[in-house]
Amino acid sequence: MNKLDEAEKYIKANKERLNKQYRLEYHLMGEYGWINDPNGFIQYKGKYHLFYQHYPFDAVWGPMHWGHAISEDLIKWHYAPLALAPDEEYDKDGCFSGSAIEKDDKLYLVYTGNIHTGADGGEYKQVQNLAYSEDGVHFKKYDKNPVIGQEQIPERASKRDFRDPKVFKKGQYYYVVLGSNDGMGNGQVLLYRSLDLKQWEFVNILAKGDETMGYNWECPDLFELDGKGVLIVSAQHMKARGNDFNNPNSVIYFIGDLDIEKGVFQLGDCHAVDYGFDFYAPQTTLDKLGRRLIVAWMDMWEMPMPTQERGHNWAGAMTLPREIVRVGDRLYFKPIEEIKNYRKNHYHLRNIKINGEKYLDTISECYELEIEFDAGEAREFGVKVRKGKEEETILCYSRDESLFIFNRDKSGIGPKGERKTNIALKNNKLKLRIFVDRCSVEVFINDGEKTMTGRIYPGKESLNISVFSKGECSITRLDKWDIAVLP
Ligand code: FRU
Repeated sequence: MNKLDEAEKYIKANKERLNKQYRLEYHLMGEYGWINDPNGFIQYKGKYHLFYQHYPFDAVWGPMHWGHAISEDLIKWHYAPLALAPDEEYDKDGCFSGSAIEKDDKLYLVYTGNIHTGADGGEYKQVQNLAYSEDGVHFKKYDKNPVIGQEQIPERASKRDFRDPKVFKKGQYYYVVLGSNDGMGNGQVLLYRSLDLKQWEFVNILAKGDETMGYNWECPDLFELDGKGVLIVSAQHMKARGNDFNNPNSVIYFIGDLDIEKGVFQLGDCHAVDYGFDFYAPQTTLDKLGRRLIVAWMDMWEMPMPTQERGHNWAGAMTLPREIVRVGDRLYFKPIEEIKNYRKNHYHLRNIKINGEKYLDTISECYELEIEFDAGEAREFGVKVRKGKEEETILCYSRDESLFIFNRDKSGIGPKGERKTNIALKNNKLKLRIFVDRCSVEVFINDGEKTMTGRIYPGKESLNISVFSKGECSITRLDKWDIAVLP
């Protein structure tokens, strides 16, 4: 049996063994086993396709396959057969991250083949490959792979880290940006171009970080938004700057001027894409509605993942897809509209005053909360979700420090800690949209000015929600809907 069928068969035979306790209601996960980066995010022949880094045989990272899910609306996903397995010389130790593009009605995948060069996998080389499909479901690898080989790596670029092609078309050319580093501890992005996706030429080192911005850049993404260039990269071991970049790895963006012909991107300031705990290796796509959508792996390397233990048999999930909007020299991230179609059981409060803690007379596991606070006299105010006898996840605004804080010290099992980010009140008001799922929280602050994403693993009984303040504040409106996708 070939490797793809073998993996498929294994999933079908084992998926009943999943422990469902933390299986997410409205976020994409693998059908069984491990997933990481989103790959090949595209709208093709009307449907959204999202592929992902996948090791189906266990809830740990292993030789990478590409899982595949298809959706009409980015919320309800159906699993398609696995798209790629590591079964050729040029990808024998993993089909690593990559992206998708449509050409002549076909769906093309451009991905990295990982090849170990030493016995223990510590040494490796990486090349870029092509696969294609007529129906968007069954893929064939191109018979002249690799399409970008080791010999096409320029000087001043690592011969080892050379991965994660993100493909796009501009004018007559197809381009890929590739994750790289200069071999001296600075992440960088390489640009290549092609007329047919098969023959590629190196254009330039498009952009390079400094020594604070991570020793290697993974999963680059380059696009234009309202006339400006945007570069997003996943920076390994980015150095902390105060409250920012306190995770092992960080996703950062730059807005700047792009000269695609010369292959030069003038980097503007560097900002975090998300200010929480768990957001990595995102990928964007432009859909037919003209939206620039982004989805990320809702986990973090080097952090414990509770569903790897106790017979859960799965690990890894995607964030809610978000729409990117440029507001001057910043990006805003908003939940996609489609999520509203899954709202059920509306609960609301209007114009109430709080001073102390108040429980809402509703409980839920998977829901959306929209709250508008008027800070009044309060020094501190916020909301607690997935609250039980001893558990709570705190989302709180501190007026004295002008900080929004996500604290998961008492969230349940799983990693703890808090993340903080600077937010200014507008007319003394704070607006939150919060998405809670069985083991995740995503907060959109002030219409997407900043987002904070984190995984939490509360007990089944921790279902309460409370609002609180130190000093009097008012909630001008609070709306809550359960979100139900699964039948
Ligand atoms: C990012 C990453 C990519 C690589 C993939 C391997 O999370 O390390 O650079 O292609 O994961 O699974």
